[in-house]
Amino acid sequence: MKRKVIVTGGTGYIGSHTAVELIAAGFDVVIIDNLYNSDITVLEGIHAITGVTPKFYDYDICDLARLNELFIAEGGADAIIHFAAYKAVGESVRKPLDYYRNNLTSLINLLDMMERHNTPIMVFSSSCTVYGQPDTLPVTEASPVKEAASPYGYTKQAGEIIIRDTIASRTSHKAVSLRYFNPIGAHPTAHIGELPRGVPENLVPFLTQTAIGLRDGLKVFGNDYDTPDGSCIRDYLHVVDLAKAHVAALKRLLDGENKTKYEVFNLGTGTGVSVFEAIASFERATGLKLNYTVTDRREGDIEKIWADSSLANRELKWKTELTLDESMETAWRWENKIRNQQS
Ligand code: UD1
Repeated sequence: MKRKVIVTGGTGYIGSHTAVELIAAGFDVVIIDNLYNSDITVLEGIHAITGVTPKFYDYDICDLARLNELFIAEGGADAIIHFAAYKAVGESVRKPLDYYRNNLTSLINLLDMMERHNTPIMVFSSSCTVYGQPDTLPVTEASPVKEAASPYGYTKQAGEIIIRDTIASRTSHKAVSLRYFNPIGAHPTAHIGELPRGVPENLVPFLTQTAIGLRDGLKVFGNDYDTPDGSCIRDYLHVVDLAKAHVAALKRLLDGENKTKYEVFNLGTGTGVSVFEAIASFERATGLKLNYTVTDRREGDIEKIWADSSLANRELKWKTELTLDESMETAWRWENKIRNQQS
């Protein structure tokens, strides 16, 4: 029998790419998503790639009673992969309580469901944001968790601790937190990709929307950082590579290869890329010239961060395969696809 995975936020950006990789790996995928920041048509995209339309529940996982009914109807699952969360850093500063309520209530409810419905495994979406501005680079999982730059960041820090302590209190449960660096790009088929609502906050969707004419120009937030070209440095990884890491982490837990009941992995390429280098990569991959200007720094931005992912390389037998240019090229292909559909 196929092993069943409940994927919260499965119509979102990383969730949908992971659903595709799970289906390809032979899992039965059940998606829960309230479509707060995603679109139901994503299911068609998943079907176009895999030939499978996952079972879908339009539920808010903060609603415990309804979530409980869902778990009864499903008879639990082999595992939960938990993506559903608010993720806009700036918005979290303006609406901290919304972020704490949504991101933590949903997580607590799912941990509760695991116990009540014989669902022993959780894979959690965490973020490199838990490191704040690290003192030494690249960051390893042993690097200190510092002051986060935003309430969003604190929901990830708190989420990890809530999972760690809950798992420690249960004999047969296990979990993993995956600390993502900066996921970008889209599925190479262009059937699924990132669908930001309104004006994008993240670099690559803003960049592709500028190139297609939806935005006047990209603002590079600062060129006076202590970096070789003055712009911030991040570790950008392709979303399909990131999705594959979830399958690897899940299999590790299902097959009992985990070393401890709760583990944490960094997921990145290991290479730091500046904003100017990201723009150059986009121009190289697409043959376009991007209109950009340098403006003031963005509040809350971290100067530089990139991953040491050797633990994930070794333990998950995972590494990134797609290049930065391929990431940019697939993001651009996706941008064209969605705009052509809308016009
Ligand atoms: C942030 C969070 C990350 C979170 C992600 C989700 C931190 C440190 N990082 O990533 O945890 O998962 O959001 O949304 O809190 N930039 C520009 N112009 C733009 C947009 C971005 O120059 O219009 C620059 C930024 O200054 C930054 C880089 O591009 O240096 C990447 O920014 P972004 O894509 O927003 O990601 P993070 O801020 O790294």
